[in-house]
Amino acid sequence: MKIVSIVGARPQFIKAATVSRVLRANDAIHEILLHTGQHYDENMSDVFFRELNIPLPDYNLEVGSGSHAEQTGLMLKGIEDVLIREKPDCTLVYGDTNSTLAGALASTKLHIPLAHVEAGLRSFNRAMPEEINRMVTDRIADMLFAPTQTAIENLTHEGLSDITWFTGDVMFDSVLYYQDWILGNPDKYKTPGIPSKYLLATIHRAENTDHPENMKNILHAFSMISHEIVLPIHPRTRKILQSSYTIPGNVHIIDPVGYLQMMKLTRDAIKVLTDSGGLQKEAYFLKKQCITMRTETEWIETLHDNWNIVTGSDPVLIENAANSDIPKALQHPGFGDGKSAAIIMEKLLLL
Ligand code: UD1
Ligand code: UDP
Repeated sequence: MKIVSIVGARPQFIKAATVSRVLRANDAIHEILLHTGQHYDENMSDVFFRELNIPLPDYNLEVGSGSHAEQTGLMLKGIEDVLIREKPDCTLVYGDTNSTLAGALASTKLHIPLAHVEAGLRSFNRAMPEEINRMVTDRIADMLFAPTQTAIENLTHEGLSDITWFTGDVMFDSVLYYQDWILGNPDKYKTPGIPSKYLLATIHRAENTDHPENMKNILHAFSMISHEIVLPIHPRTRKILQSSYTIPGNVHIIDPVGYLQMMKLTRDAIKVLTDSGGLQKEAYFLKKQCITMRTETEWIETLHDNWNIVTGSDPVLIENAANSDIPKALQHPGFGDGKSAAIIMEKLLLL
């Protein structure tokens, strides 16, 4: 079976690393990896391939940055060319980025069966580009791999249960696979020069970076938090902050880091403040309370017992959450048993 896997952005490299490892261990499967080039900086792309032993992409479209239409359009053309040349039995897309949408459209229009990993997530906020990408992808896909029961319910509600399977979350597989690195103490993946006690923060979602009021509120909230804050900065956010913002003195900005370094930073943090989808889950997997600086979350399973607190960009809510007690309640299972990639492979072989 020939599969073309399509990736392009940081979280997709991390998800594909896990699935690819399992697919490539099966002689019956030939995986071709296509990188759209949506993310291209060394520390937004290459570092993940190197660190997670992801095979080098067979194709890199090098589309780079641009408006939604520009970026998606370039990808669509490039992906179509590759799919026509490779004639795969199926295409695999991940998550909800523009690379996901382009891969889904190109594949479906060529009548190549399409499988979607991390299907069924919904924020019910159509202002998010990711919500449009995932709704369209799920609607046109042939196989939907749902990471949580909430995702199953969303897809069932949309009449898609016949093509949906619960797989668990490949990012949970990943944390389990690397747990010795993450929980162990080799210095290799530690971040030098950061405070010994800190909150870990990331910000990159358009709903924050593209709305100055939200960015100002978040930075104001950070200035009121009594802890140091380590902020590995997404290039999108770096560009925005270079304009007219004052960075509070307790915020330590560092370059984006690799996955294992990020997991160590999460493991050692007091709490996590983020608008990332992936980091909300990783905080949960590593038993760190997460403060989600968005107006909603798709990862409902993380909300129980205040393991994840949704604050939007409201400075009072962020500060209160940062100062709240750390949860002691046991966490619920809900992201599978760490074998999501194997389930995905098994279902793909049914095609
Ligand atoms: C994209 C995804 C988002 C995901 C995020 C993961 C879409 C619509 N959004 O957002 O869902 O959460 O990736 O990180 O697909 N840039 C660089 N170097 C890079 C990559 C980006 O400088 O290697 C800068 C460019 O100025 C670019 C901006 O970041 O314009 C935004 O990049 P883009 O890929 O369009 O969206 P993300 O914000 O990364
Ligand atoms: N991440 C990383 N280095 C960083 C910031 C994030 O490796 O400097 C990881 C993070 O741990 C998670 C993934 O990137 O695994 C999430 O990507 P991002 O937040 O960019 O996208 P989202 O999940 O919101 O789509």
